[in-house]
Amino acid sequence: MPSDWDARFSPYGQRAGGAETRAFLRLVGQPGLISFAGGVPDSNLFPSQLIADAHARIFADPAQMKTALQYSMSEGWPPLREWIAQYMRGKGVPCGIENILITSGSQQGLYLCGRLLLGESDGLLTERPTYLGALHAFAGNNPHYGPLSALDRDERITAKAAYVMPDFANPTGESYSPAQRERLLAAAAKHDIVLIEDAAYTDLRYEGAPLSSLLALDAGRNGGIEQCRVLYCGTFSKTIIPGLRGGWVVAASPVIQKMGLLRQAIDFHNSPLSQMVLTDVATRLPQSHIAMLCETYGARCTAMLRALSEHMPKDVTWTKPQGGMFIWLTLPETMDSGALMNEALALGIAFVPGAAFYPGEPKRNTLRLNFTACETDTIREGIARLAGLIAGRTVSL
Ligand SMILES: Cc1ncc(COP(=O)(O)O)c(C=O)c1O
Repeated sequence: MPSDWDARFSPYGQRAGGAETRAFLRLVGQPGLISFAGGVPDSNLFPSQLIADAHARIFADPAQMKTALQYSMSEGWPPLREWIAQYMRGKGVPCGIENILITSGSQQGLYLCGRLLLGESDGLLTERPTYLGALHAFAGNNPHYGPLSALDRDERITAKAAYVMPDFANPTGESYSPAQRERLLAAAAKHDIVLIEDAAYTDLRYEGAPLSSLLALDAGRNGGIEQCRVLYCGTFSKTIIPGLRGGWVVAASPVIQKMGLLRQAIDFHNSPLSQMVLTDVATRLPQSHIAMLCETYGARCTAMLRALSEHMPKDVTWTKPQGGMFIWLTLPETMDSGALMNEALALGIAFVPGAAFYPGEPKRNTLRLNFTACETDTIREGIARLAGLIAGRTVSL
């Protein structure tokens, strides 16, 4: 038996990362722990009955059952693609089924974008910090990361693509204003780069009016989706459930066709049963479900922001999101949130130290708090404890 597996892995395989994400996810359900670490929706709010009924309806109809249990198309089940095309048209994106690829969560959408666009060491621009899972999705390509601000330069830049989350970013919770969106599109056109738009949290808005996606704006500027430079990754994970792994990519049809071929090589397609269930649930889910999620999560966000204002020392700052799942904390420069994490765990609190969200040199005095998975009382209690710990550390510096 070979014992030198690391040496046998390809460079692509060797770069697979993400062990820390798994460690944090393991903390999510630990009894007695107040976890602000996960990025998960509250499972008490899942539309479970609708999902059970959808399965029952499919298995009660022999023709549907056979389709659900058979191999299917790599681009995805046509009725689900049609539902998504209609949903995207409702968001101002003029698209048809030929512009939609169903993916196993938007995580796979990001992976496919990286696989399709990025050659070894190609330039990729991101915010700093950015979504940890995107760094994992792109890791095998070994991209050469640069800051998104490079787009403001006048001279030609060599980056091939930029990865952005215009609405309620993970980990900061921040969004781009309409003017920032327009500037980003203009700069991407000037430097001729592709934009990977991650819209995971778009529908979880607790304040303010919805803003147009980069894809919608780009289609408006250029006269249609076939002329767009944006690859849009969407997901059912945050508004329905993550467990059926339903995501999608919307892009110009040549991109979708090539991604379909990549998908064929990976796993052929999403489970047809899952896709049929998602179609059934998405069609029947009342608007009031998303309104209920926004009301519940919005109240938790407000509770966390209030608790932070009440308890945190003056030299700690944080973002004030209008949606999504996260608040981003910046501690005094000299503090390391990685070291703080062990002490917090001893007090029964978990968060994600910020360093993991940086491509390249991290800012270690940062951390991410999730507010969707705990009830408001638990949030208040957890933040009071965490603030006490930080205040003690600040004083002893
Ligand atoms: C910003 C962002 N994009 C994509 C994903 C992937 O989610 P999923 O694969 O469940 O759609 C996540 C998950 O937390 C996320 O936070």
